[in-house]
Amino acid sequence: MTTAPDVRVLRKTGLVPTIRVWDPVVRVFHWSLAGAFFAAYLLGDGGGAWHQALGYAALGLVGFRLVWGFVGGRYARFANFMPSPAKFLGYVRAMLARGEPRHLGHNPAGAAMIIALLVGIAVTSISGWMMTTDALWGVAWVQGTHEWAANLTLALVGLHVAGVIYVSWRHRENLVRAMLTGRKRAG
Ligand code: HEM
Ligand code: HEM
Repeated sequence: MTTAPDVRVLRKTGLVPTIRVWDPVVRVFHWSLAGAFFAAYLLGDGGGAWHQALGYAALGLVGFRLVWGFVGGRYARFANFMPSPAKFLGYVRAMLARGEPRHLGHNPAGAAMIIALLVGIAVTSISGWMMTTDALWGVAWVQGTHEWAANLTLALVGLHVAGVIYVSWRHRENLVRAMLTGRKRAG
């Protein structure tokens, strides 16, 4: 009888079978969105032309991702990872009991964060655009929404990165590298 090789032994030999999970579009989208968001945030003061261009780029990327969620690769599709309250709570409960399963695609907590990040960036950019219109220029609640949405989204990004580090540690795999190469351990 043959037994499956131990993954820790395989890893030492560099022979761990991997599978492509993130298609190139998702990877380019991800790092472009992160770059556009950070750059727009850092150039926020005064809302100059570069700031606005980067903000529109981030909004364009979010819009593009919504389309890719229907036509992209298997793990890019919303149908593959769309979270629900039941799935989210089930996963969090399993996490608290330190028994959450590994997911090849996005896990339910990560998926909920993805939706929150996409919404956060859309609200930030749209409120930014509103500030530049004649009708809403100088209106306090619009400015306040823009500032709040930008800061809240930044806080969510911090939580997102913390989640990535935690799951990488729990399942002994480098998820950041996976978002660069597209590949993850098969089993
Ligand atoms: C990812 C997208 C964006 C982020 C993260 C972002 C972030 C910020 C931040 C942090 C500020 C400084 C707020 C403050 O402390 O006063 C700011 C200001 C501003 N943003 Fe954005 N922004 C984004 C998109 C946009 C867009 C698309 C526009 C317009 C087309 C825009 C227009 C402005 C303007 C006009 C200000 C200056 C507000 C003022 O002087 O009080 N932003 N933004
Ligand atoms: C502004 C900053 C960021 C934003 C808006 C953002 C947004 C997102 C989004 C939307 C996804 C889903 C990808 C998709 O299916 O299209 C994602 C996944 C991911 N992000 Fe980020 N991200 C940011 C920064 C970062 C940083 C700095 C890191 C690494 C340190 C990171 C690591 C990852 C990883 C590893 C995944 C895949 C998670 C998984 O395995 O389920 N992200 N991010």
